Amino acid sequence: MDFFLDSAETQEISKFHELGIIDGVTTNPSLIYKSKKPFRELVTDICEITKGPVSVEAISNSNEKMVEEGFELAKIASNVVVKLPMTWEGIKACKILSKNKIPVNVTLCFSSTQAILAAKAGATYVSPFIGRLDDSNIDGTDLIREIRTIYTNYGFTTKILAASIRTKNHITRSAMAGADIATIPPNLFHGLANHHLTDKGLETFNADWEKSGQKIL
Ligand code: E4P
Repeated sequence: MDFFLDSAETQEISKFHELGIIDGVTTNPSLIYKSKKPFRELVTDICEITKGPVSVEAISNSNEKMVEEGFELAKIASNVVVKLPMTWEGIKACKILSKNKIPVNVTLCFSSTQAILAAKAGATYVSPFIGRLDDSNIDGTDLIREIRTIYTNYGFTTKILAASIRTKNHITRSAMAGADIATIPPNLFHGLANHHLTDKGLETFNADWEKSGQKIL
């Protein structure tokens, strides 16, 4: 499973990039707004930090404008992926950009029929928002399982990018349901390596090694 960082904070992105752990980045207009940085400069910086795919969202409502924005965004860097909303206009724009070899991430996907449309329109990625479904008391990882089955049944190659991830359990369950990628917010990423039993075990091992009086180096 690939891990993307769901963030527009360059410091965070650099930190995880240096660890060699992240395979790409997703942004959205809210994350860009929170970063308080000029948009083009920010996207250029993120695309330099990681060579992996960086999703950047178009903001117009009509397909014509989305296509124009898509071409403009793709000029910023070769690893830009144009994020388009899961609307009919977004689907039309997805078809045009994908035909022009510009990768598209269809975002705000909340049903398997939407995911079929995204795949038929040639999307490189589809983003089911599992946390927001959970907020409405619907199991978001069930949606991922459905999409996986449908894509496998029909040989669709669109990648399933589990988004709106809020917990470690979301990551585990998305992986088990067959998501290709999970995009993870930095605060959750920080805690992924931690477990209280790891800390406790390490404490005991270190104390016993100290008592043994031996050295490796
Ligand atoms: C994905 O591409 C989105 O940026 C993100 O996962 C949205 O998550 P949220 O529901 O926590 O805002």
